[in-house]
Amino acid sequence: MSSIDFETVALDEAADELVIIDQTQLPYRTEILRLKDQKDIWDAIYLLKVRGAPAIGVAAAIGIYLAAKDIKATDFNDFYAQFKKAKEYLASARPTAVNLFWALDRMDKKVLENKEKPVAGIVALLKTEAAAIREEDIEVCRNIGEYGLSLLKPGMGLLTHCNAGQLATVKYGTATAPMYLGLERGYGFKVFCDETRPLLQGARLTAYELHASGMDTTLICDNMAPTVMRNGWVDAVFVGCDRVAMNGDAANKIGTSYVAMAARHYNIPFYICAPTSTIDPACASGKNIHIEERPAEEVTEMWYKERMAPEGVKVFNPAFDVTDAEFITAIITEYGIVAPPYGESLKNILAKKQGDENG
Ligand code: MRU
Repeated sequence: MSSIDFETVALDEAADELVIIDQTQLPYRTEILRLKDQKDIWDAIYLLKVRGAPAIGVAAAIGIYLAAKDIKATDFNDFYAQFKKAKEYLASARPTAVNLFWALDRMDKKVLENKEKPVAGIVALLKTEAAAIREEDIEVCRNIGEYGLSLLKPGMGLLTHCNAGQLATVKYGTATAPMYLGLERGYGFKVFCDETRPLLQGARLTAYELHASGMDTTLICDNMAPTVMRNGWVDAVFVGCDRVAMNGDAANKIGTSYVAMAARHYNIPFYICAPTSTIDPACASGKNIHIEERPAEEVTEMWYKERMAPEGVKVFNPAFDVTDAEFITAIITEYGIVAPPYGESLKNILAKKQGDENG
């Protein structure tokens, strides 16, 4: 497993603080942040100090628990009105990763199911629920890893985009989970990481955590992916996901769809790794996914000593793109591998999950 020995996102139960590793400082500085204030938690999500769909969900669950704990209310209605306000605030931090809304809705459900209890009792249940969301993420990622690994053979070359690694989850990652399990079992994978412009999650985070774990890791610029594929060095592509629509379209970090198209051209399987919490039953197709747009400075000057684009030039900076379902070989979830036609198979996997939850 990874040699990174800090936790991506956790609750310090004694101090009642959200504890994260500041991912904007990696790989050079390992700075642990302890957050209590809602504005600081919102900023941490917006500024990508904590990032990656599952990690954002866990941070939001802990964040809303911390908000609930501080609510001074006379009765349930008063409490719930303030809870809803805090929920809306955290939900506004980023628009694309559905795990953010999924986690907040799950916490909301816990409140409503227990409205007859005293507020202090509801807050205690929220703490337990946030801890459960965090713990489940570890199990979910491990299962994704097992299903993903079942598709692979020792010695294979793999390619990934952005960071869907341990740093994007609580442990294992999603796209990296098969890689880490393979590492434990001596599979000897060779992994190519796209650097992932403009925020370099592939270079700063994926290359960092895989390399630290002892994985055979090669960093490439985004525009080199077709070259390594053409060279015959890539047997499969694994990427994470921020939202899966019910027709199988999947939003992930900008540039993912390009990788998928290149993989199709070279006849390489392209897998989306996604917990079922990333599947959005309310979203019929990729056309309905809200794609976050971020500040122009991320493209024009970030990471450079001097601005590297002309002053005043127009910039388009979408943080995610949608890979059309037709380019996705399969979607790997904790409940199994979902294959086309997605209209049917995604409904089936959600029904399987529902059945499991109902016991
Ligand atoms: O903008 P980011 O860094 O939060 O984007 C992250 C990604 O696109 C990941 O691939 C996705 O959230 C899946 S993480 C398991």
